[in-house]
Amino acid sequence: MNTPPLLDQRTVIVTGAATGIGQAFALGCAAQGANVVVADIGPADETVAAVEATGAKALYVRVDVSDEASTREMAVQARARFGRIDGLVNNAAYFREVKLTDFEQIDPAIWDRIFQVNVKGVWNCCKAVMPAMRERAGGSIVNIASVVAVAGQPGYLHYVASKGAVLAMTKGLAKEVGQHGVRCNVIAPGFVITDATRNRPVEWQQSFLKARAISREQRPEDLVGTALYLLSDLAGFVSGQTVVVDGGHIMY
Ligand SMILES: NC(=O)c1ccc[n+]([C@@H]2O[C@H](COP(=O)([O-])OP(=O)(O)OC[C@H]3O[C@@H](n4cnc5c(N)ncnc54)[C@H](O)[C@@H]3O)[C@@H](O)[C@H]2O)c1
Repeated sequence: MNTPPLLDQRTVIVTGAATGIGQAFALGCAAQGANVVVADIGPADETVAAVEATGAKALYVRVDVSDEASTREMAVQARARFGRIDGLVNNAAYFREVKLTDFEQIDPAIWDRIFQVNVKGVWNCCKAVMPAMRERAGGSIVNIASVVAVAGQPGYLHYVASKGAVLAMTKGLAKEVGQHGVRCNVIAPGFVITDATRNRPVEWQQSFLKARAISREQRPEDLVGTALYLLSDLAGFVSGQTVVVDGGHIMY
């Protein structure tokens, strides 16, 4: 018997899908039969081409998640093209640019920008998709935080605090949207090798590697299975949960 793919006929928006982890999520959704909205502040031709190469449909939308009007327009375009929105992966973040800085030296303007993108951006995108999800009485939101929100990390207080807010927001939102059939969960990745992290100190990378139960580099693909599960009906009774995916370093 042929079972349909996990996300057959569904539409999933992935923010920050141009590169890295977001690109892996977009490809994973495509492989499971979803129409994929490839949303990013920058161009995402590579992701769109890769999604289409799987036979799935892709729609590129330029979005700045920190701008409410821009996220609303993203949802409008998604519905105009695919008629529905079933999933949202809040992956975009101010991350690559974050510099290791003693907390007393953090530039307040950078602190504010991180919160605008990483916290307000998640809120904006959730608000933008809610009308479509409420209408169909179903939907799944998957937020991407970080294991540093659970374990701490010196030199990144602004980023750590923003991802901590994402963990808390996920729980608050789950309690609020459950009545509409919508679930909301959060993945906390460990240190993943992407273009954003390749230049982080080597000692750092090695210390993460040594501390893991599964002692190897973490790749974007390592996060995809968990996201697909949370987006799909397999997780139909799972909401408000934090799933740490880091090879067994932090056991939360
Ligand atoms: N790489 C890691 O080690 C790691 C670890 C834990 C959590 N994370 C989280 O995973 C996610 C992806 O990380 P990555 O390593 O792939 O980073 P990345 O920098 O490669 O990708 C981030 C994407 O988000 C987009 N983006 C940035 N600001 C945006 C905005 N305002 N609006 C729309 N798009 C925007 C960027 O253009 C980029 O394509 C982030 O949420 C990050 O915080 C990463």
